Amino acid sequence: MSDSREKKKIVFSTGAGVSAESGLSTFRDAGGLWEQYPVMQVASAEGFAADPALVHKFYNARRRDLVSKEPNEAHRLIADLQRDFDVRVITQNVDDLHERAGSREVLHLHGELMKLRDVADPGYIETLSAPDLESSPDTLSRDGKGRHMRPHIVFFGEAVPNIEPAMELVEQADVFVVIGTSLNVYPAAGLLAYVRSGVPIYYIDPSPADVKGLRDVTVIRKKATEGMAELAAILRNNQ
Ligand code: APR
Repeated sequence: MSDSREKKKIVFSTGAGVSAESGLSTFRDAGGLWEQYPVMQVASAEGFAADPALVHKFYNARRRDLVSKEPNEAHRLIADLQRDFDVRVITQNVDDLHERAGSREVLHLHGELMKLRDVADPGYIETLSAPDLESSPDTLSRDGKGRHMRPHIVFFGEAVPNIEPAMELVEQADVFVVIGTSLNVYPAAGLLAYVRSGVPIYYIDPSPADVKGLRDVTVIRKKATEGMAELAAILRNNQ
């Protein structure tokens, strides 16, 4: 017998902070990636045009790091909520930890680290797996058609094709949850504006960006794993 009630739609918008407890660096915290690397050289369209080999090397290093990491309890708690809710995850992260924790509906705004795509045809995408984790400007497609491949990452200065479906998801949310993002980067940071009025918003982050000006946001000033444990209890009590 199926449950006739529609499941509540919980939409998550996650940033690097949700993967911090898995051991992946964030970008703007002390010691973060943008302190270690020149962001415009390794993560912008201009940088890729100027020195594609450097950009491939940067993502090769991040990919090697990622395969040695595991999802953390926050990723798992989000996936577990799929038992009782219609859960959608929008993420700025390029890691695959949400998927590896069991989340089935994950929309990546800034691309996916484990994927390469044809420089000329963004619709042609290949997934990498260990031990073949490296790419270079000489990497050609596996289909034998000689396509030149690039990291399947949205560089600064490039469009964010998934932002429209993300906005639609946020407009359908019955609960909207932001986890581990400094809300520095648009259009991702602007998703908050698409939450229907009256829909509760939670923001889990140990040092959250200032959201006072925004509509009633419940800030859970905790790390993702602790904050998600607290939120899962709230959501199940208010089911
Ligand atoms: N749990 C939850 N949040 C955390 C944790 C943690 N354990 N540790 C750090 N944070 C929070 C920080 O307080 C900060 O608010 O995670 C956020 C990380 O912010 P950023 O480093 O700016 O990462 P993010 O917001 O995801 O960056 C957005 O910028 O460079 C681009 O494409 C890149 O997707 C990235 C985008």
